Amino acid sequence: MGRSLNANKNKEPEGELAIRTLAMPANTNPIGDIFGGWVVSHMDLAGLSIARNLGSPRVVTVAIEAMEFIHPVHVGDFICCYAKLLKVGRTSMRIKIQTWVVGPDEDSRYQVTEGVFTYVAVDEHGKPTPIAIKEGEYHLSKNLNKQN
Ligand SMILES: CC(C)(COP(=O)(O)OP(=O)(O)OC[C@H]1O[C@@H](n2cnc3c(N)ncnc32)[C@H](O)[C@@H]1OP(=O)(O)O)[C@@H](O)C(=O)NCCC(=O)NCCS
Repeated sequence: MGRSLNANKNKEPEGELAIRTLAMPANTNPIGDIFGGWVVSHMDLAGLSIARNLGSPRVVTVAIEAMEFIHPVHVGDFICCYAKLLKVGRTSMRIKIQTWVVGPDEDSRYQVTEGVFTYVAVDEHGKPTPIAIKEGEYHLSKNLNKQN
């Protein structure tokens, strides 16, 4: 069940803004709202942009957990995907992604989705390869291994 918009009132996006784009009519589902798959693909790209900064230019998505669609997205909304690094493993990275909507008047802002995406660094043969991050190299690294 969707949360009331009031529940978002004192909430702030978690992590850093990774993608901001406009929901267009071409991205609608048969009932006229924005198609969930379009939003998820932007969330995936947002996480990818963070994951690629962690030491490997080749990164693939291996899992999406805890995916929640909280409110519909409408044509004319700007979607903003925020990414927060939760954990770096040997070859994998867990990244929490939230999508927030900014209405056409730029006045209202509320959260519409949340999910945890796992990415794996791979070599040129598509095999998992160790992540080369060094502590402090990436500013989100202060969140390393902190579970949410
Ligand atoms: C990602 C992929 C290379 C992993 O290969 P694999 O042989 O399963 O690798 P491993 O078992 O060695 O696991 C590698 C890492 O991924 C993690 N992992 C694997 N499956 C996972 C899952 N379902 N959920 C969360 N993490 C997972 C492992 O825990 C491990 O993490 P760590 O090294 O940090 O400890 C392989 O599954 C793959 O190519 N999948 C397709 C990816 C893709 O095409 N994505 C786009 C979809 S359109």
